[in-house]
Amino acid sequence: MPEKILVTSALPYANGPIHLGHLAGAYLPADIFVRYHRLKGSDIIYICGSDEHGVPIMLKARTENVSPQQIVDRYHEMNKKSFEEFGMSFDYYGRTSSTVHHEVSSDFFRTLAEKGEFILKTEEQLYDPKAKIFLADRFIKGTCPACSNPDAYGDQCEKCGTSLSPKELINPRSAITDAEPVAKETTHWYLPLAKYQKQLEKWIDAHPEWKSNVLGQIQSWFKSGLNDRAVTRDLPWGVSIPEDVAKKYNVDAEGKVLYVWFDAPIGYISATKEWAQAKGNENLWKEYWQNKDTRLVHFIGKDNIVFHCIIFPAMLMVHGNFVLPQNVPANEFLNLEGNKLSTSRNYAVWLNDYLQKFEVDSLRYALACNLPETKDADFSWKEFQARHNNELADILGNFINRTLIFAHKYFKGKVPEAGQTDNLDKELIDKIIHAPAALGKLIDNYQNRFYVRDLMELARFANKYFNDKEPWKTRNSDPQVCATTIHLCLQMIRSLSILAEPVIPNSVRKIWKILNISDNPNWNEAGQLKLQAGQQINQPEILFTKIEDEAIETEIERLKKAQTSSTSSQTPEAELESLITFETFKKLDLRVAKVIEAEAIKKSDKLLKLQIEIGHIKRQIIAGIAQHYQPEDLIGKKIIVVANLQPAVIRGNQSEGMLLAASNENQLTLLTVLEDIPTGSKIS
Ligand code: MF3
Ligand code: ZN
Repeated sequence: MPEKILVTSALPYANGPIHLGHLAGAYLPADIFVRYHRLKGSDIIYICGSDEHGVPIMLKARTENVSPQQIVDRYHEMNKKSFEEFGMSFDYYGRTSSTVHHEVSSDFFRTLAEKGEFILKTEEQLYDPKAKIFLADRFIKGTCPACSNPDAYGDQCEKCGTSLSPKELINPRSAITDAEPVAKETTHWYLPLAKYQKQLEKWIDAHPEWKSNVLGQIQSWFKSGLNDRAVTRDLPWGVSIPEDVAKKYNVDAEGKVLYVWFDAPIGYISATKEWAQAKGNENLWKEYWQNKDTRLVHFIGKDNIVFHCIIFPAMLMVHGNFVLPQNVPANEFLNLEGNKLSTSRNYAVWLNDYLQKFEVDSLRYALACNLPETKDADFSWKEFQARHNNELADILGNFINRTLIFAHKYFKGKVPEAGQTDNLDKELIDKIIHAPAALGKLIDNYQNRFYVRDLMELARFANKYFNDKEPWKTRNSDPQVCATTIHLCLQMIRSLSILAEPVIPNSVRKIWKILNISDNPNWNEAGQLKLQAGQQINQPEILFTKIEDEAIETEIERLKKAQTSSTSSQTPEAELESLITFETFKKLDLRVAKVIEAEAIKKSDKLLKLQIEIGHIKRQIIAGIAQHYQPEDLIGKKIIVVANLQPAVIRGNQSEGMLLAASNENQLTLLTVLEDIPTGSKIS
């Protein structure tokens, strides 16, 4: 039976769009690896999905006055779609808010609890007396001791980058209510990692082949000794602690959830289960996860190393019955034009934005050439342009194009018969024969930069071969030689197109169509001369059009602006969505409405529940305006609402629309109409 391979890419948080840093870290390298193995005929599955819990998602929901579910729904769809367009070939893209995931992760927790592997600890934590919730570090704001930024978070100051603890903040306050936090006792479950350190060390010792940046980080964790890790949190968003388990420990489960880094990696397992269900074979996931011979590979960025190399493996070991990763080829960071990426300052290249402007394969290729495999790397738009223009277009594209044109012009678009071969021909054949094994080995060893470098080397050789053979001369002087040259060039195109599939999957499919070859070729057969003399070839098309300077300058300018702007108010979405078409605008159904009833919502000092009338229709909407309006003052008022917004449940209340308001830091005022007009009137 062939080896089973299970590949995962880190589940991205569903609270923002995907950017180049993500792609270079955990996604493109995995996709190249997976595509290669599929061509090899390996038994491989590729699993990913959205990480939908955690504090930043809640914070984002609060600032936008929507539910966390609405946030994750938005970004799950957005990221799933951009990944698809970028050619990420996941077998399954799940999400951690799914029912299956909630079941699988709470069962996992229960199993560990039943084995007695947790310890309970009661400690003081900061608490917001007004909102009546415990405050994660991210929920505490205050003045940064390093740079005096008044809006630093309890874990980090985003302005100067200093990492902080809530205690270090000057004038700490709750990010939710502005109240001063107080210390209060709370009880949590901990995984005592020290207990498993020996076992983990033994397992890591058996993997001297792992990347040195990864082993280095692991060793330094071992050296300082592993500590107890809390696996639960007091938060209203996440996977609830199973009641039965809490009862056994005599703890009130109310308001407690699994820590996001406990449930998220289990997402790999739950997504595989969902994949198996979708395939109609419930138990298929076990053949991968519960099979000690499975080659499990986690592709991640370096900030995820400890979770994938120590904590999750410890969880898997303690649980038992799961395979441990066979490798975790974590990448370092990608910088941008010489500077650190900053999502809050919009100093990043966003995938959905990129996809509207350039070709997928250009980015896949340029990034692959420059992956942060062994050290941090830098992405620059000029280099991107050069890789596309000078390599994809001028070398690979040119070789293919001139060969195909020649074959059409002088051989009626058919593969000519090869005759006697000379030394140069033999050298080319030799390269074709040896390329699949050599390139495949590089991919299998997670050396994608070398893979694309050697791939382009092969194309460069082929291009030079065409030059040196001068078929435009031999056409008259020695037609036999000319036919052999073009025959071999066509064979080379076929081989290159298979070997390049992992990195430029879209372009190679165009080549396969032109050459009339199967869309499911075999990697090893790229080493054979399989085109038959006489075989018909279709008309060539331009594979790579040059990228103009202006297109690049625009991108560079935008980044320069982002880099010098000191405000963080420009969110990526604001910038991305700054230009919309009229078509998009027309999709909004804005209407005049009248408030019929208004009441406060219990336990919320922000929200009001409004019953409104839009023409004949009655609706309920939940609005975050309680700090600005008394319910009774609103009754009878005409307001403006978005009438076709997807309904949402906010604090247990159905909300079927959204009202419009103008606001700044200190003030909020509702929009209305200048003259009286019946409700239901359309706004355009
Ligand atoms: N969401 C995390 C991040 O972006 C990665 C989670 S990986 C998983 O850093 F294993 F936990 F799923
Ligand atoms: Zn600071």
